[in-house]
Amino acid sequence: MSIGSVHNFPALKNDLILRAARGETTEHVPVWVMRQAGRYLPEFKEVRAKYSFFEVCQTPALACEVTLQPIKRFDLDAAIIFSDILVIPQALGMTVEMVPEKGPTFDEPLRKAEDLDKLNSKVDVERELGYVFDAITLTRHKLEGKVPLIGFSGAPWTLMFYMVEGGGSNTASKSKKWLYTFPEASVKLLNILENVIVDYLVGQVKAGAQLLQLFESHAGILGPNLFFRYAMPRIESIAKRVKQKLTEQKLDPVPMIIFAKDAHFGIKELSTSGYDVVSLDWTIDPAKARIIVDSKVSLQGNLDPCALYSSKEEISIHVKNMLEKFGTQRYIANLGHGVYPDFNPEHVGAFVDAVHEHSKLMNKKL
Ligand code: CP3
Repeated sequence: MSIGSVHNFPALKNDLILRAARGETTEHVPVWVMRQAGRYLPEFKEVRAKYSFFEVCQTPALACEVTLQPIKRFDLDAAIIFSDILVIPQALGMTVEMVPEKGPTFDEPLRKAEDLDKLNSKVDVERELGYVFDAITLTRHKLEGKVPLIGFSGAPWTLMFYMVEGGGSNTASKSKKWLYTFPEASVKLLNILENVIVDYLVGQVKAGAQLLQLFESHAGILGPNLFFRYAMPRIESIAKRVKQKLTEQKLDPVPMIIFAKDAHFGIKELSTSGYDVVSLDWTIDPAKARIIVDSKVSLQGNLDPCALYSSKEEISIHVKNMLEKFGTQRYIANLGHGVYPDFNPEHVGAFVDAVHEHSKLMNKKL
């Protein structure tokens, strides 16, 4: 059953990204940008001057408004619901704030195995995260079918990283210390997270999300041993369980994207882990990645975000080089990670337009 018919959503006018994710032919390469809604946009800063970060996430009308901001400005092929991966630790009972200049900050990070008992591990996702579902449903209506809406979640390890570190960290020494010294408690925590993530992603699809992206943003720091032991099995299980639950509930499946940043060592395995799309960071050469990954998977990425500091003319050249390496099919253009707050919005527009222009020309030559 299509969710669109349940909610009476407007008909979709641009399904390029869905086709690219499913491996169907596209007339030009679809493009969206990680963190396309955010502080580089003056209209976003205006909203943030009046409301805290999590107030925006928790108020469907505001989350919808900022989700649509980049769609109004640029010729993007997808919207991503405005939220944050840290809404799951909040749903589990932890207090997180977004501190200016510092980023996410937990008031009481997990310190010892017994701290897990304080978590609300049997969380009712509908009750605790229903505001995200409401924001998704509202945004699907307000998008008027212009482009598909992406839902997302953090992956278990990346959420554990923040819950133990209490915020950002370059070394992950506190959270990796857990993996080495409390393996049982770590597995318990990762499993709690996996269960919530599955329900959360299924809930997003029911609310109207048309694609899902799982962010394993801190994959690289694990290295292959810890990644394959702790992160990968859950990444795999999440795709399988989400797809299974959608089938059981007689709902149409949606394409799923995995972004495991800096996990060079795992891209082959990621390409057969049940996801339709593997998203690459900029440190991997696209041509090499194509050779390594399974031929049935689509790729996403991977321009170095800092390339958007160069002139519009140079951005166009960077994009052309990137497209030549990826090819125009089974491909979704994006940056290799999120937008930075000091980006010139016009350069984000130049990136989007260059993807369309160059890929149309390349397809003419095919
Ligand atoms: O992409 C989008 O436009 C959708 C919104 C989105 C946000 N966070 C909004 C946000 C998405 C998809 C995320 C995911 C997210 N959040 C990730 C995974 C992606 C990645 O970057 O690796 C992570 C690790 C987080 C956790 C998080 N949230 C951090 C580390 C920070 C601070 C970073 C910073 O630049 O300050 C945030 C804050 C955040 N999330 C902002 C936005 C727009 C900026 C905060 C603000 O407005 O004050």
